[in-house]
Amino acid sequence: MNYVVFFIKYMTITLVFAAFLYLRLVRPHKLRGKWRIIAGLGCLFVGGASAFALPVSIKLAKTRTLYERAFASDWLPVLYYIMIFLYALVACIVVRDCIWGLLAIVRRVRSRNDTTSLLDKPENAGESEGLTRREFLRRASTITTVGLATAAVPTLAWFGKKTRVVRHIDVPMASVPPELDGLRIVHLSDIHVGHTINAQDVAEIVAETNALNPDLIAITGDIADGYPDLIGSWLDPMRDFKAPLGTWFVTGNHDHMWDGHGWCDVVSKLGIRVLDNAHEIVDVAGTPLAIAGAIDASGDRTDLSWQSDPEKALSGIDPGIFRLMLVHKPVSVDRSFAAGADLVLLGHTHGGQCFPLNLIVNATQKYARGLYRVDGRVAFVSCGTGYWGPPLRVGIPCEIDVLTLRRV
Ligand SMILES: [Fe+2]
Repeated sequence: MNYVVFFIKYMTITLVFAAFLYLRLVRPHKLRGKWRIIAGLGCLFVGGASAFALPVSIKLAKTRTLYERAFASDWLPVLYYIMIFLYALVACIVVRDCIWGLLAIVRRVRSRNDTTSLLDKPENAGESEGLTRREFLRRASTITTVGLATAAVPTLAWFGKKTRVVRHIDVPMASVPPELDGLRIVHLSDIHVGHTINAQDVAEIVAETNALNPDLIAITGDIADGYPDLIGSWLDPMRDFKAPLGTWFVTGNHDHMWDGHGWCDVVSKLGIRVLDNAHEIVDVAGTPLAIAGAIDASGDRTDLSWQSDPEKALSGIDPGIFRLMLVHKPVSVDRSFAAGADLVLLGHTHGGQCFPLNLIVNATQKYARGLYRVDGRVAFVSCGTGYWGPPLRVGIPCEIDVLTLRRV
C-alpha cells in the first residue's frame, strides 16, 4: 500500500512537470504523428526523472542491493542532472514567455499606429509556402530555450559543487567569558558525501577549513548519503582536520537514514568526537568551555535507542560555564535554549538550497538560515557545506562559517 501511495504521489508530480513542458514547448508547434508522441514521451521522461530522483534515493536506503547497483552504475547522479535540466528549462521558459509577453504588449501599442509592424504582420505575409514567420520564430525560441537549458546544466552543476563561500560572523554575547573572547569556531554542516561529493571534495573542504585556523571545528550532521562500508573511506581526509580544541560531530537525519551507528564509528576512527546526547568540558587557557551535542531529532525513526535528548546533553554542567550546543535540526533549538545552551549551531535547512525553495524555507522554518538572537542566547543555522541530491545551489551557495565569539 505504501508503494501505491508513493507511486501515485510522485506520478502526480511527474504529470504536472510533463504537462507544463508539453504545453509550453510542444503543443504550440502542432506536431503530428510520431513526432508528437516522441516529444510527449520526452516531457514525461524529464518530469518523471526529476520527480522520482530524490524519493527513490531515499527508498533505496532501505533496499541495499538496489542501492549498491545504483551506486555502481551511477544512474542516480544522472537523475540529479536531469533535475538540473528541468530547473534550467523551466527558468528559460519563464524568461522566454516574459519576453514574448513584452513583445506582445509592444506589438499592441505599435499596431495602433503602424499596422505593418513586423510582429503584427499576417502569418503568411510575404511567404507563400513553407514556414510562416510566426512558426519560424516559435521554433527558433523553442530550440534556443532547450539549447540554453542544456548548456546551463554543467554550468549550474559546477557552481553548485564548486562555489563554496566562507562567511565570517562575529557572535557578540554577554555570556562569553573574557578568556573566550575571540574564540574561532569553524562550523560545517550537511556535507552529504555521496553520489556527487567524493573524497577529493572532502579533501578540499578540510584544506579550506584548516586554512581558517579554527580553535574548534563543529560538524552538525548529515555528513554523508550512503552506506558507511561503501563510502566511509571517502571521509578519510577528515583525519587531517586541525583545531586545538578538537573536531566535534552530531548526527543528522541522513546519517541515521543510512546507518547511524556505522557513520558514528567512521567519524570516531578519524579522531572526530561524537556527541550523542553528551557534553565534554574543554580547557581554554584555564577557562572551561562546555561542548554539548544531541542526537538528531529523527534518530529514533530508524533505531529506538537513538532518542534525541538535548536536556541530557546539557545536564550537569556547572553554572557560569559557557555552553556551546550542536544539533542538526531547527526543531531542537528551543529545547536546547530551555536546557541552558548559550550558543546553538545547527544545519538541516540548507537555506532552501536554491531559489525559490529558499522562500518556502524562510516562510516555514522558525530558524531557517543565519544568526538568531533569543533572550541573550544565539542560534546559528548553516546553509550547508555540501548539498543534497543535485549539485544545484542558486542564490544559496554552499558555505563554511567562521563564528568568532565576542564578549559584550
Ligand atoms: Fe542535509
